[in-house]
Amino acid sequence: MNDQTVSRQTFDEVMVPCFSPAPFVPDRGEGSRVWDTAGRDYIDFACGIAVTSLGHAHPELLKVLHEQGSKLWHIGNGYTNEPVLRLAKKLESLSFADRAFFANSGAEANEAALKLARRVAFDRHGEQKAEIVSFTQSFHGRTFFTVSVGGQPKYSEGFGPIPQGIIHLPYNDIEAAKRAIGPQTCAVIVEPVQGEGGVIPADPDFLKALREACDAHGALLIFDEVQTGVGRTGTFYAYEDTGVTPDILTTAKALGNGFPIGAMLTTEALAAHFKVGVHGTTYGGNPLGAAIAHKVVELISDPAVLAGVRTRGEAIRAKLAALNERFDVFNEVRGKGLLIGAQLNARFAGRAKDFNAAAANHGVMMLIAGPDVLRFAPSLIMPEADLNEGFARLEKAFEDVAGAR
Ligand SMILES: Cc1ncc(COP(=O)(O)O)c(C=O)c1O
Repeated sequence: MNDQTVSRQTFDEVMVPCFSPAPFVPDRGEGSRVWDTAGRDYIDFACGIAVTSLGHAHPELLKVLHEQGSKLWHIGNGYTNEPVLRLAKKLESLSFADRAFFANSGAEANEAALKLARRVAFDRHGEQKAEIVSFTQSFHGRTFFTVSVGGQPKYSEGFGPIPQGIIHLPYNDIEAAKRAIGPQTCAVIVEPVQGEGGVIPADPDFLKALREACDAHGALLIFDEVQTGVGRTGTFYAYEDTGVTPDILTTAKALGNGFPIGAMLTTEALAAHFKVGVHGTTYGGNPLGAAIAHKVVELISDPAVLAGVRTRGEAIRAKLAALNERFDVFNEVRGKGLLIGAQLNARFAGRAKDFNAAAANHGVMMLIAGPDVLRFAPSLIMPEADLNEGFARLEKAFEDVAGAR
């Protein structure tokens, strides 16, 4: 077989079938537009899944990619490098944290966070303090530990014995959290907005109650900001707007704008429990990823960009309200900043995939979050013209699925 001749069908012939990609094959992107191999253009409201927050082929990121790419890509953690040290300093200047550990994905950042929490509890209190509290519908990644901690059993079933000492509580249920968090609790892990679980924001009082319960019982509070972080909700990290500061924060996705990088941020006192050899990675903290992430962080932490997240978020909510006025498809639009979920009403229950497919037919890339929620996670700097064009196309897609009313 000629390996130059490939198409969407080749996927079914050569790939492990754990994904079901769209019928078209994206080939090139610029800003909030993507072109497929047939030359058709799409307006991008998906950004991968909340990853390419500065759009595609951002000129300043390309410059860093080329500069660092011609200097040093990889050196291993037997050495340090200047880009990773600059990135750590930058992230620490923008957050509560004063120590960073770099990985290659959100799952690995969470794996590090959970292992650190277990190690801290073990060192301070002994092996009985090992329980991890998580929430139903949460998502923390696909390694076996993170998928077991995640609150969607369909992702952890069928792989043999699940790691012990994990419990799941209802999200936003303060009383249940107060009852369950106790001396046996090692850590509580929570998303400030549940992304994969349906774009469900945490109630600030719920997060405060988690903080208080953790403090009362010597447990660590971990915020999984893999999806909410790096500007997505309108502040650099979502915790800033909640009145609650975690002990450990995980960040990935938009951190590299598509270059795979994740990080676990924490305090000096907790970090001290990861002594030499206790945890590690081959690629984490490589100079190429770190240089790119440093530029991403510099660009997104600009107050004008963060303010733009809030105004674009409001513009999208207004557009969704207008679509709903015409088609009566949603019973709720929720989320924060540019992480927006539109919950389909009973008439369209289970049909999020149909809307997604119709959107693609009309040249729009968007996301779903479960069978009933349409999810929007566009570039934080999406041009207004693209946003308007995207919604003009979406209106046609909605005509196909929901008909004119
Ligand atoms: C909140 C959250 N945590 C963790 C992950 C896993 O990240 P990754 O796919 O980079 O491992 C995701 C991915 O969707 C996520 O949304």
